Amino acid sequence: MNECNHIKGPIGVFDSGYGGLTILRDVRRVLPEYDYLYLGDNARAPYGNRSFELVYRFTLESVKALFERGCSLVILACNTASAKALRTIQQRDLPLLDPSRRVLGIIRPTVERLDELSPRGHVGIMGTRGTINSQSYDIETAKLHPSFTVTGHACPMWVPLVENGEAAGAGADYFVKQELDSLMSRDPLIDTIVLACTHYPLLLEKISRYTPQGVRIVTQGEIVAHSLADYLVRHPEIASRCSTGGTASYLTTESADRFTDMASLFMGEPVTASHIEL
Ligand code: DGL
Repeated sequence: MNECNHIKGPIGVFDSGYGGLTILRDVRRVLPEYDYLYLGDNARAPYGNRSFELVYRFTLESVKALFERGCSLVILACNTASAKALRTIQQRDLPLLDPSRRVLGIIRPTVERLDELSPRGHVGIMGTRGTINSQSYDIETAKLHPSFTVTGHACPMWVPLVENGEAAGAGADYFVKQELDSLMSRDPLIDTIVLACTHYPLLLEKISRYTPQGVRIVTQGEIVAHSLADYLVRHPEIASRCSTGGTASYLTTESADRFTDMASLFMGEPVTASHIEL
């Protein structure tokens, strides 16, 4: 890619499927002036149980697709991709593809806020197997808040429930309660649970129902939105390459019709998605 040919383009927002919409919604609320291009790799979701190699390859393909469509800045609105692919893309691929573009993840901005969120310093992290097994949250928290106790817990059934449109169904109750009980039994002192998977806010109603009173549930949308706003202020050279028409466009690797229905419901506005092959 040629560095000299940059024109302004949308901010790219990537997730394995629908989950990143929970981030995009808050990002648009905080930064409504920018254009956004969302890409959901629904055809290959969930990523959560996939190997490092596959998550990395799929994420890199998606980032390239967003670059090709004019994005100078791409947010990996996916913890699994942030945990497994971000560092390699930043360190190995970006210098070759185009060192003037940026790819950002969502784990570090979340961990940065933990001291404000957890008075007791006992934090539960709920995510996909990929995110939890990577120990990214444990490692980042140990750096920034060394006195904190972090308990990671994988919830492998939660993303399939969301991707299959079952988040509101009765069957979801069983899996939501089971995982929350299991997490809390491992550290009853937990005062804050981070939903460290962008799909999980779509299960928020049920998660709230089965979370013990007094335990705070943290979703990442607002955190990522404010962190992005701060980033754009600190990096005017990137901000100046992000177009400001206030629009959002949507791409999916699965059926555009299905994505259109789900995304319109979730974003609370009519959405028209297009299909792409990666
Ligand atoms: N929404 C993603 C995350 O934040 C990935 C879910 C999946 O594809 O398993 O981890």
